[in-house]
Amino acid sequence: MPRRSLLLLAAAVVMLYFLIIMFMLSPLNGSKSTYYGHGYMNHFSYRQLPAVNWCKELRWRSPPAPHVVALVSYPGSGNTWLRYLLQQATGIVTGSIYMDHSLRVHGFPAENITDGSVLVVKTHEAPPIGRDKFKSAILLIRNPRDAILADFNRLHKGHIGTAPKSAFKKKSHEHKKTDWATYVSHELVGWESLHRLWLTRFAGAVHVVFYEALVQDTRAALQGILGFINHTISEADMNCAISFKEGIYRRKKKLQNFDPFTSEMYSALDEVRNRVLTMVVDYQKKHNESVRDNTVHQLSG
Ligand SMILES: *[C@@H]1O[C@H](CO)[C@@H](O)[C@H](O)[C@H]1NC(C)=O
Ligand SMILES: *[C@@H]1O[C@H](CO)[C@@H](O)[C@H](O)[C@H]1NC(C)=O
Ligand SMILES: *[C@@H]1O[C@H](CO)[C@@H](O)[C@H](O)[C@H]1NC(C)=O
Repeated sequence: MPRRSLLLLAAAVVMLYFLIIMFMLSPLNGSKSTYYGHGYMNHFSYRQLPAVNWCKELRWRSPPAPHVVALVSYPGSGNTWLRYLLQQATGIVTGSIYMDHSLRVHGFPAENITDGSVLVVKTHEAPPIGRDKFKSAILLIRNPRDAILADFNRLHKGHIGTAPKSAFKKKSHEHKKTDWATYVSHELVGWESLHRLWLTRFAGAVHVVFYEALVQDTRAALQGILGFINHTISEADMNCAISFKEGIYRRKKKLQNFDPFTSEMYSALDEVRNRVLTMVVDYQKKHNESVRDNTVHQLSG
């Protein structure tokens, strides 16, 4: 074969490989910013996620539990991370009232499942009016400053990065306030009302978990949750879950090189946060739970 044809053949082969690789990557690019119901954004793009190593093969609850436990949180508060930890510890899938396609193919096969075949069911919504949907609830509470910022970053940058500085300065014409300031006060109203509704309007038992306590002592927080849902696991299972606790679902904390919160925002955040913490204390007193140490810690923190 003449040299030139050989070269052409080689070039064609390289080209073909390149096309195949492009083809394999292309469906992965489109998944980053899909919106699902309730305006809740999918925070993971396929490409960023390596495979999950599970402590044990995930299974469904069998027989199904007669009651469903809600896993409630405001967006940006670590709900997916807690689901991941619970799946590691128990080997049982966790459900969701949402259908997040990228979570579904990356370790959460029970997206859009809300019955007793799952361990807990994720929701960011107010307690449902019909009182039999959820029997009890785990309420995951994160400092509103961090939750609101995490959600803002996600809206602007997907799961990966942080919003650019300019995103915090933007003003939509006539408004005096920045869009960011409007966003913070709006989200703060939502943050307070979500917690208020679950602590005061929900008929079932509520178990409060502080995100900051979950980070600080993951084992104790998980033990508390498992106790609440009456699920016992071996110490080996707990050790395994703890050894994989970082997982792939935890947003890497990126430090902002500036503080986007003004002092007025900080006062508003503190005021609202203290009102909610007081509601937690009242709830725990009313239900004759001894007010737990970490609630007191949150109050003073
Ligand atoms: C979620 O589940 C319901 C039934 O349980 C089904 O009708 C609906 O199509 C599902 N949604 C998605 C997006 O798969
Ligand atoms: C756990 O067990 C207690 C006592 O039997 C029961 O009152 C409670 O409803 C159970 N909790 C859940 C989430 O099933
Ligand atoms: C509440 O707890 C106290 C002590 O922990 C106990 O003496 C009291 O009987 C409890 N009250 C109710 C209504 O369960």
